[in-house]
Amino acid sequence: MNSKTQSHSTHDASEDERNRDIKIYVNGDIVHRDEAKVSVYDSGFMLGDGMWEGMRLYDGQWAFFDEHMDRFFNSCKAVSLDVGMDKAGILDALTRTAAANDMSNDVHCRLMLTRGIKDKPFQHPKLSRSGPTLVIIMEHSKPAGSLQSSGITLATVPQVRGLPMSQDAKFNSHSKLNCVIACLQAEQAGADEGLMLDPHGFVNTTNACNFFIVRRGEVWTSTPDYCMNGVTRQKVIDLCRANTIPVFEKNYSLYEAYGADEAFLTGTFGAQTPVASIDGKTIGTGERPMTARLQALYKDLIRQNTGSRSL
Ligand SMILES: Cc1ncc(COP(=O)(O)O)c(C=O)c1O
Repeated sequence: MNSKTQSHSTHDASEDERNRDIKIYVNGDIVHRDEAKVSVYDSGFMLGDGMWEGMRLYDGQWAFFDEHMDRFFNSCKAVSLDVGMDKAGILDALTRTAAANDMSNDVHCRLMLTRGIKDKPFQHPKLSRSGPTLVIIMEHSKPAGSLQSSGITLATVPQVRGLPMSQDAKFNSHSKLNCVIACLQAEQAGADEGLMLDPHGFVNTTNACNFFIVRRGEVWTSTPDYCMNGVTRQKVIDLCRANTIPVFEKNYSLYEAYGADEAFLTGTFGAQTPVASIDGKTIGTGERPMTARLQALYKDLIRQNTGSRSL
């Protein structure tokens, strides 16, 4: 471990005691978290056979709901996982869960769908005969403000992004072992999160977020080939284009990442999280004008998308 005394993650949130008593949606029932259970025969538990989405609620509206549903339904279709309801059904389940918890702001949701309960503890999908298991966890959650000033530390890790014909990185699947291994490797190197390369050695993404650098007034991110098709990633690219900020999805190496003026991560939870260092090398001078500009533009976009007035 290095000399850091406090470690962070991009999902650090202020402690909120109310989360001890949240209610969770499990296949139509909404129950106290202590009673929210799935079977040990569930395909998600046994095999990581399921898909999920992370979403945030702003003044009672889910930010970029359509984009999240597009990804979710596309992923489920690609693995022949029958959702058992349409987008309106999912929205209804989300609305019921939010109402049961009296939640409307600073809420993070994990919507999870698995192939359901298996008859026997084996892999074959045809053994899942009960229909899917749908779980919705909503927590009171406010990203920790301290990350904005301190930034996150990254370490390049040996674990690489997979090729699309092994497990396509676009699947937001329950099985995240590739990313979990990357995260462990980063932790062992004394960093907060792992910076993962693609199979050719180009910089790609972190274990839990998409990754951007800013160089000489330009915003760079990897090609979409090996990373999660992040909703926030796409919004940042779109915002750059709409505001004539030069933006490129391209191959680049650690050479350019180490020498960047700024770097930041994107994800639904943290929006844009500044990067302080990569492999112990400080990024830029600590001034982050482009990150700040994109954060402001992104907040505006959420206001437009949700009608939120409390942001
Ligand atoms: C590996 C990975 N990258 C990036 C993201 C961020 O995606 P989004 O911006 O849609 O939250 C996620 C979130 O699920 C992820 O798991």
